[in-house]
Amino acid sequence: MTKTFIQDLVNDMTLDEKLAQLTQLGPHYWGLDDTVDLTGPFKELNIKPQVMESIGSVLNGIGARNVIEQQTRHLQTSRQKIPLLFMADVIHGYRTILPIPLAMGSSFDLEACERFAEIAAKESAAAGIHVTFSPMTDLVRDPRWGRVMETSGEDPYLNARVTESMVRGYQGKDLKEKGRIAACVKHFAGYGAPEGGREYNTVDMSSGVLREFYLPAYKAAVDAGVAMVMAAFNTIDRIPASGNSELLRGILREEWGFNGVTIADFNSVNELIPHGAAIDGREAAEKSLAAGLDIEMMSTHYLNHGAALVEEGKLDIALIDEAVIRVLELKDALGLFDNPFKDADPLVDEAPKPSAEHLQAARELGASSVVLLKNDNDALPLKRGMKIGLAGPFATSIHVLGGWAGTEKDPAVSLYTGISQKTSAENIFTAMTGELGSMLEGVFDVEDEIEDAYQQLQDCDVILAAVGENQQDTGEGGSKSNLRLSANQEKLIWRLKDTGKKIVTIVFSGRPLELKPVLDASDALLQAWFLGTESGNSLADVLFGDYNPSGRLSMSFPYSVGQIPVYYNAYQTGRPYDPMYPNVRYVTRYLDCPNDPLFCFGYGLSYSKFAYNSFNVEAADRVVASIEVENTSDIAGKETVQLYIHDVSASVVRPVKELKGFQQITLAPHEKQVVSFEITREMLMFYGKDDQLVFEPGEYDIMIGRNSGDHCTQRIWIG
Ligand code: NOJ
Repeated sequence: MTKTFIQDLVNDMTLDEKLAQLTQLGPHYWGLDDTVDLTGPFKELNIKPQVMESIGSVLNGIGARNVIEQQTRHLQTSRQKIPLLFMADVIHGYRTILPIPLAMGSSFDLEACERFAEIAAKESAAAGIHVTFSPMTDLVRDPRWGRVMETSGEDPYLNARVTESMVRGYQGKDLKEKGRIAACVKHFAGYGAPEGGREYNTVDMSSGVLREFYLPAYKAAVDAGVAMVMAAFNTIDRIPASGNSELLRGILREEWGFNGVTIADFNSVNELIPHGAAIDGREAAEKSLAAGLDIEMMSTHYLNHGAALVEEGKLDIALIDEAVIRVLELKDALGLFDNPFKDADPLVDEAPKPSAEHLQAARELGASSVVLLKNDNDALPLKRGMKIGLAGPFATSIHVLGGWAGTEKDPAVSLYTGISQKTSAENIFTAMTGELGSMLEGVFDVEDEIEDAYQQLQDCDVILAAVGENQQDTGEGGSKSNLRLSANQEKLIWRLKDTGKKIVTIVFSGRPLELKPVLDASDALLQAWFLGTESGNSLADVLFGDYNPSGRLSMSFPYSVGQIPVYYNAYQTGRPYDPMYPNVRYVTRYLDCPNDPLFCFGYGLSYSKFAYNSFNVEAADRVVASIEVENTSDIAGKETVQLYIHDVSASVVRPVKELKGFQQITLAPHEKQVVSFEITREMLMFYGKDDQLVFEPGEYDIMIGRNSGDHCTQRIWIG
């Protein structure tokens, strides 16, 4: 129900003022400094100064002082005194940089995900930000795409749970509360599936795939009350999302009941033209407004053509009014009409350091996201007093925040610094710690340095090789066709192996890399992601066993790039590969590479050992699956017990397995616990031929285990 004062404002607006309210521009249009890089094609938009007085929102205008200054000036000139909305890309923390979202997904820890968003919200709110363009919940299957770092991975169920936790963490119960900001889920829809993993490339999928895999996490955001939804750059069924009425009106508003604000991606209304879906700006504006896209970001076709479209009868003014009302309602929900600065506080924003509480939380979030991929010969945990060799481009680097981290205002804790808090400096020996640039293949020949590293570290008890990809290679515009470590890094690891000492390879990356070439040279392999400000401390906690690793992969790690896309929940085929008969040719397989990934979804080791026994599925009034999990080791640890199902035969082909639940349990040494899951009809429903949710009685495989490739299975009939 629209409040009277909002309706009065709209009644009193000129059409141009309404269209300005639906336009978002960067702060430099107001003659203020732009402190962030602009992304995407950018050109001067020829905006008249008086139009600026009615613009509705600002993109990436950050910093409490800037925001207060800009809002104050704006309110002095705005005829109706409507405050600006400040929106920004706070992707993994604002001041305290937190683990990248792919790492957070790998924590499988929903409370941690909520905490992640709460911290980001608190710091952003103090910097004057009202809306964050997060969570990005695009499902991903292709690690060549640089933006996999921004999402929680390849599974619709996990993505949905992570997304709703983040929405809660950002928004709380009331957007007016201090320290809360509005969330904008993105990129609706299917942006995570560009062909070949190439940024901004075509997305094309059946509506069944869209509904089954890609839509659930956006829907979870809507159900959690997300304030905004950003339309994607890509097409859905050949129509650009930013002008796609079936998507933005049909699915989002009519089917899901979304009442909040929709926004274009950067310049995406204008991009209807190069897409070939609009001949000019006028047609682009017509299509996007008609499709229900409320705010145009960084292009000005609404402003320039909206009035003519209404006058010519091509657009109903009611559509524009509705959009303006939604924008004003969001401003009201944030309390901006009463307090246009909300929580902007230069004292907090410009504090010399991030808060100790947030740094501690960042350290814990980082440790819970790290995934232990291999640990032979008890290479880990390290013992204090050991002579530790440390080599590789990430050994002493502070450039470990990951893409989208804004400015490196507060330097991250390097691995070296983290380790030196745990053991005396005399026990740490470094070699070949040059930054990644010098390690890149073909840039320098580093044979001599590798030889020196071998000589210098051969008397150590254990050698840590800190390797990975440049943080700049992750995030938007970060697509790659080669996912191997640089040849120099691979050579370094193999030469260090010749020392005969235990080698612990620590991989810093924003995506699954191709790790097979260094697997056999590594006694232990630790996926370190980019963990943000506290990176080195989080890693040192894991390396020394002060935190027992509990991360589980939220995205499969390919055996080789040629396998991509490789993901656990693929559809069944008519000629499945049977590992019992590895040499049969006419089944779905590669001749030169396994079908399975190197490390599958849900995989991750612990310093504890967990045994799974007494699997049982009971189907009486309710269907309940249970299993006993025992910590058979002397170390307390956290295990993520995962439930998968498979519909054996259905009206449409079903995935080989689907995650339907997980529980994290902490077990003391030798403790046992029975973990149960109720299998509900809702879990077994799927989108049938007509895109309708159906439940079909029949046989189901119920699986519980430690990951998508290792579980107990029982087949039962569920009616
Ligand atoms: C383009 C990106 O796709 C989007 O995620 C981001 O929020 C906008 N630019 C605004 O910076």
